[in-house]
Amino acid sequence: MNKHIVLLPGDGIGKEVTKAARLVLEAVAERNGHNFTFEEQLIGGAAIDEAGTPLPEKTVAAARKADAVLLGAVGGPKWDHLPGAERPEKGLLGIRKQLGLFANLRPVKGFKQLLHASPLKQEVVENSDLLIVRELTGGLYFGRPQERTEDGSGVVDTLQYTRKEIERIVEKGFESASKRRNHLTSVDKANVLESSRMWREVVEEKKEKYPDVEVDHMLVDAAAMKLVTNPSSFDVIVTENMFGDILSDEASVLTGSLGLLPSASLREDGTGLFEPVHGSAPDIAGEDKANPLAMILSTAMMLKHSFGMEKEADHIEKAVQEVLDAGYHTADLSIMNGIEHGCNDMTRKVIEQITSEDTTA
Ligand code: NAD
Ligand code: IPM
Ligand code: MN
Repeated sequence: MNKHIVLLPGDGIGKEVTKAARLVLEAVAERNGHNFTFEEQLIGGAAIDEAGTPLPEKTVAAARKADAVLLGAVGGPKWDHLPGAERPEKGLLGIRKQLGLFANLRPVKGFKQLLHASPLKQEVVENSDLLIVRELTGGLYFGRPQERTEDGSGVVDTLQYTRKEIERIVEKGFESASKRRNHLTSVDKANVLESSRMWREVVEEKKEKYPDVEVDHMLVDAAAMKLVTNPSSFDVIVTENMFGDILSDEASVLTGSLGLLPSASLREDGTGLFEPVHGSAPDIAGEDKANPLAMILSTAMMLKHSFGMEKEADHIEKAVQEVLDAGYHTADLSIMNGIEHGCNDMTRKVIEQITSEDTTA
C-alpha cells in the first residue's frame, strides 16, 4: 500500500521520538512491502522560531492532504513568556480544531513485565486495561470568552459545548465500549456544572441504542481517586476535554511511565492524527533519554485506525512487548533494573525485533 504521512516533530523530545517513529515505520514498510512517504512540517515552538507562528498554514494544508499525521510534542520554557494566543500549545490546539479531531483515544494497559514499575501496589495495577475517550475540540479549551477583564482585575475562561459535540463523543464512547468489555463510565461534574448535566442527559439518551453496554456516571473527583485505587473497575471512560487531559496523565502511573502512553485523535470519518500523551519533556530534551515507546505505539494506532493495517500494528506492539520482556528500558523506567538504553538504542531494539519477527504467525 502507498501511504503519505505528515510528521510534525515539534519541540524538545518531540523531535527525538518522531525520528524513532519514522525509523520504525520504514522498517514496517520494508518488511511488509508497503511504500510510506514522509513529509516533515513545522508546529509549536519550532514553527514560531522558523515561521513566526505556532501553526503555519502550510502545515495545516499538508496535514489535510496526508493519509495520516504523526505529532511529537510542542512547548518548552523558551516560549513560556509568550501571550496565550502565540504559544506553541496554540499550534496543537489549532490543528486539532481545524482538522476536526474531536475524539482522542488514550488506551492505558500495563505491560506484565512492568507491573512492579508502577509506584502503586502490584495487586492494584494488575488487570488494569482501560481506554479514555477524551473530547478534544471543545470545553474549557475552546470556549469564548477566554480573557482578562478590561481593567485587569479579573479573568474569564468559558466551558462551552453544543449538544451535537457532546453527542458525537458520547457515541464514540459507546462504540468503543461495545468493541471492548461493554462497560462505559461517563465522567463529569454534574453536581456543579450545567455542561455536565447536559452531558449526563445525552449519555442517558444514547444508552437506549446500546443495550449491551453497562453505563455508569461518576463525578470526576471520585474518578480520579478510583483510577489509582481500583483501576481494573474501568473499561471505557468518556469525558470532556479538560477532565480527560488530567485523568490520562494520572492513568499513566498505572503503566509505570508517561513515556508509554499512545493516543489517536480522530475525525468523524475515522482518519486522524496520532500523538503520544506526553509533552516535550524539557528536563530531558536533547539528551537521548526519551522513552520512544509512547510514540512507537502511536504509530501502531495509526496503522490500525487510519490504514487498516491490523497485522502490522500487532507486529509493532509485539516487538515493544518483546523488547521490554528482554529487560531493555529507558531511564524513566530505571526501576526495571534491566538494561538501560537511550532513545536511539531503544528504537533500534524495537526495529531489530520487527525485522526478525516471524510474520507468518
Ligand atoms: P511532559 O509530559 O513534557 O513531562 C512530564 C514529565 O514526564 C517530565 O519529567 C518528563 O521528563 C517525563 N516524560 C514525559 N515524556 C517522557 C518520555 N517519553 N520519556 C521519558 N520521560 C518522559 O509535561 P510537562 O513537563 O508538564 O510539559 C512540558 C512541555 O510540554 C510544556 O510546554 C507543555 O505545554 C508541553 N506539553 C505538550 C504536549 C503535547 O504536545 N501533546 C503534552 C503535554 C505537555
Ligand atoms: C495533551 C497536552 C495538551 C492538552 C496541551 C499541550 C495543549 O497536555 O495533549 O495532553 O492539554 O491537550
Ligand atoms: Mn496532557
